[in-house]
Amino acid sequence: MNPVRILIIGAGNCGNAYAGYSKAFPEEMHVVAVSEPNSAKREAFAKQYQLNHDKCFESWEQAFAEKQLADAAIICTRDQMHIEPAMAALHSGYHVLLEKPMATTEEDCRKLAAEAQKSKQIFGLCHVLRYTSHYQKMKEILDSGLVGDVANIEHIEPVNYWHMAHSYVRGNWRRTDESAPMILTKSCHDLDLLRWLAGVPCRHVSSFGTLTHFKKENAPDGSTERCIDGCVVEPDCPYSALKLYLNMELTSWPVDVITEDLSKEGREKALREGPYGRCVYHCDNDVVDHQVVSMEFENKITVSFTMSAFTRGHRRTRIMGTMGEVIGDFQTITVTNFRNNKSETVWKQDVQDQVGHGGGDFRLIKQFLKAVRANDPTLFESSVEASLESHLMAFAAEESRLKNKVMEL
Ligand SMILES: NC(=O)c1ccc[n+]([C@@H]2O[C@H](COP(=O)([O-])OP(=O)(O)OC[C@H]3O[C@@H](n4cnc5c(N)ncnc54)[C@H](O)[C@@H]3O)[C@@H](O)[C@H]2O)c1
Repeated sequence: MNPVRILIIGAGNCGNAYAGYSKAFPEEMHVVAVSEPNSAKREAFAKQYQLNHDKCFESWEQAFAEKQLADAAIICTRDQMHIEPAMAALHSGYHVLLEKPMATTEEDCRKLAAEAQKSKQIFGLCHVLRYTSHYQKMKEILDSGLVGDVANIEHIEPVNYWHMAHSYVRGNWRRTDESAPMILTKSCHDLDLLRWLAGVPCRHVSSFGTLTHFKKENAPDGSTERCIDGCVVEPDCPYSALKLYLNMELTSWPVDVITEDLSKEGREKALREGPYGRCVYHCDNDVVDHQVVSMEFENKITVSFTMSAFTRGHRRTRIMGTMGEVIGDFQTITVTNFRNNKSETVWKQDVQDQVGHGGGDFRLIKQFLKAVRANDPTLFESSVEASLESHLMAFAAEESRLKNKVMEL
């Protein structure tokens, strides 16, 4: 088998995570080029994957200006920089694996989906949850008919209180105008998953949610604008930047996002000067910290989805069927069969399910490479149409939340 040749666009967290597949499975994937404007990241990446200078580019524009460098491009730039490199990659003849979200506006999502459908290449989106063995198993149970016809699904996405503070209060996804609504940036995975489990398109959506906690008026007395500046409530604050970033045992995400210098001095400098040292009550964030979405699908399945910052744990999904129910929480999946009133644990988390989004990252890459090798889009679980649908569900939920109305899709 010839390994699929890959160009990585954006050698940040996700770019490095996906490129790592080629180290574990060199017979399937070969990283042959990279584009990354940050010279330290670019050089570190080039060293790891033994890339010559002429295969390293400072921007995606430069990489796509060259004669086709690889079979496929994996695009891992930030949210607002997805549509342009994805369009350029399709126009240049690359198969494309794009990080979610497809784009940050409905118009751009539709434009990109139309272009991907028109092209002859494989186009995949990194909806990693579908590829976890946990959700693959749930889908298999539903498709087997064991629990009869599905009537409801209850799904919760715990963002984790410290992850909320890192990404959605202090970090890159904190503002809608710099990224997109949180229901898209964080939860398009969940909406995709729910659409997939329901098996048919969503018809109606309504949503409520706000930013209630991470606001200036909730700053405790004695708090300072930066945690490092002698804040008197810091020792008791669960969102303290000192607790999160000065734990010297931690050297990977999220600490490596705040600085490239991971020494104590380097971290403290970042907390004194950079965005991640700010008090969570003194940031310029505007995305919600909790949101619910109610959905009705074409087959009358109803779904309630809750996203919350005020949690610690894993996604939980409960599927209620006419002949039984399924409960999964990433540790186990339990099925109760109403026909004999017996409950059974049918899946347990394995070691490979504990890394890279429940094992979804590597399974996603495996399937994408398989589809590319066979030049067969049906070998990739998630179609362009399905990806677009989940994004349209997110835009509808956001409009419903803002306008207080039920949306018809
Ligand atoms: N599928 C998932 O579960 C999942 C998880 C986390 C993040 N994401 C998404 O992945 C994307 C990347 O997130 P990340 O955490 O890796 O971000 P990151 O900031 O670590 O990486 C983005 C990289 O793109 C580079 N870049 C900027 N301009 C560029 C250009 N012109 N050409 C090439 N590269 C350029 C940046 O320098 C940076 O290194 C985001 O859209 C994010 O929402 C998806």
